[in-house]
Amino acid sequence: MSHVTVVGGGIIGLSVAWRLVQRGRSVTVMDSGGDEGAWYAAAGMLAPAGETAFGQDPLQELLLESARRWPSFAAELERETGHDLCYNATGAVDVALTGDDLAEARRMWAFREQRELKMRRLPPSDLRELEPALSPRVRGGAHVPDDHQVDPRRVVAALRAALADAVTTSRMTSLPGGTTVVAAGLGTAGLTGLPVRPVKGLVLRLRGEPGVLRHIVNGYVDGRHVYLVPRPDGEVVVGATQEERADFTVTAGSVLELLRSAVDLVPELAEFELTETVVRHRPSTPDNAPLLGRWTGDVVVAAGHHRNGVLLAPVTADLIADLVEGRVDPLLAAFSPGRFA
Ligand code: GLY
Repeated sequence: MSHVTVVGGGIIGLSVAWRLVQRGRSVTVMDSGGDEGAWYAAAGMLAPAGETAFGQDPLQELLLESARRWPSFAAELERETGHDLCYNATGAVDVALTGDDLAEARRMWAFREQRELKMRRLPPSDLRELEPALSPRVRGGAHVPDDHQVDPRRVVAALRAALADAVTTSRMTSLPGGTTVVAAGLGTAGLTGLPVRPVKGLVLRLRGEPGVLRHIVNGYVDGRHVYLVPRPDGEVVVGATQEERADFTVTAGSVLELLRSAVDLVPELAEFELTETVVRHRPSTPDNAPLLGRWTGDVVVAAGHHRNGVLLAPVTADLIADLVEGRVDPLLAAFSPGRFA
């Protein structure tokens, strides 16, 4: 069996490498070993319903398939490494603050219901039973039980531990020879010429009393969108801005926008400590769906996961490992790297 080089040690590259190693392949992962990947900012929502987008049916299928694979992916990785990934299946709530927000949320809920994504619309009183810290101003919402979460920094640490013998620290400016998987996020553009662009996201981390929030909260707040992802230790991840920019500046306005939305939904968060602001860039494609498949000769691509790199890691890893071994899963058809040629 030939050696495989995986270029990129973010959550996608490491997941692919791990699956290949499990199948007995000799693998080298080329990566800086740092934290410049999108995974470092990611809140870790595994949200096939929360990330539903109009006009993205093949992507929706892939999101659902990967969500189904997450529990066993997490359990296996935890068993193999002894790391706790903080996988949490409590679920999510959608929350709309104003009447206009509720109208917007209802359009999305109707779309999800047509696709039979599991959710239950709730009046404010039921919503506050699920999440007592929500503002009394909230006009309505929905319970979304199958959107789960994991801590991406813990996942990457576990994958790095599982692959301790395979990861080498180096930056690649050109592709090596032989069987290669390019999972280099934004770096994929320079290595392959494929259209992957940066979409800037600012994420905040707050810290306070554990247990103020139980679920992921997806907020529609005065026309803005915010998500709140609570961790068991009292951390709440607040995300995220989305801008077509490549800089790393943390602007006062974007922090204000996220904090105002978060506190409008959950007033108690104003008492939390702001512990971190972090900007990373989603690696995105012209249709915001990933590039998955053979590019040229021995080169396979797994990149451009936009808002869904963490959720899509398990299915990407399985399908790309299959492809390296010569099996083409029908799920890959809609995500060919050559589709923009
Ligand atoms: N997955 C959420 C985001 O990209 O902001």
